[in-house]
Amino acid sequence: MNLLALAKAAALAAGRLQREYFDRPIEVRHKGEIDLVTEVDLKSEALIVDLLSASKIPVLGEEKAKTEPSGRYWLVDPLDGTTNYAHRFPWFAPSIALMEDKKPVLGVVYHVMLDELFWAERGKGAFLNGKALKVSRVSSLKDAVLATGFPYGIHEQPDKVVGAFRDFLIKAQGVRRAGAAALDLAYVACGRFDGFWEPLLKPWDTAAGILLVEEAGGRVTNYLGEAYDPFQNHILASNGLIHEEMVPITRKYVP
Ligand code: IPD
Ligand code: CA
Ligand code: CA
Repeated sequence: MNLLALAKAAALAAGRLQREYFDRPIEVRHKGEIDLVTEVDLKSEALIVDLLSASKIPVLGEEKAKTEPSGRYWLVDPLDGTTNYAHRFPWFAPSIALMEDKKPVLGVVYHVMLDELFWAERGKGAFLNGKALKVSRVSSLKDAVLATGFPYGIHEQPDKVVGAFRDFLIKAQGVRRAGAAALDLAYVACGRFDGFWEPLLKPWDTAAGILLVEEAGGRVTNYLGEAYDPFQNHILASNGLIHEEMVPITRKYVP
């Protein structure tokens, strides 16, 4: 079975569903103080899980997450950017990774409203709608446009989050907070962003995106500049060229 084709088909199917419901009144619930889940998150996960089940590989999805399966498994964020979706801000994506030994070997992120399908396979490069991706060549923070996100737990340690944001705002050309970590990483992979940092993400937020960045020639570490895997709670991704300039800032704000 072609697992890449299967993951792409599942992401596209979830995207169709998300487009279909985008203008309709939908049910929105609170999972935490500011953490939302919509009926479309749940429907998307059910659809993706159903399609991926053809592979007979277990699935760990955000909304039904229990324990991590052993061995090879699919790691799924059915709709990254739920707050955006609930507010009709057209910036969200299903994100699907195939994990082996806690690392992504295949990743698909679908920018639904722009119909942009990003994918990567370990050792085979990263692509956007079939075109090979390369990270940007910006080599200095002052010329860089960065992305970040604010965690749902921001109430617990706002100073660390705001501190990093402030430092990068002063040093970089610009900072964006669009609200979907999987897309932030896809955008680093395709060179639209030069770097990205965020604390307290979950494995399904970053698994597919980090493979995109690495396969497009970028670098992914934690805030200390050390090897990252999606089970850590601080991530720094960049085109590689500005990484060393970013680490001294992120290392001050490890959550
Ligand atoms: C969230 C988005 C957001 C990030 C949050 C994530 P969700 O995922 O990726 O950009 O800042 O920390 O939890 O809840 O929309 O799937
Ligand atoms: Ca997410
Ligand atoms: Ca989600």
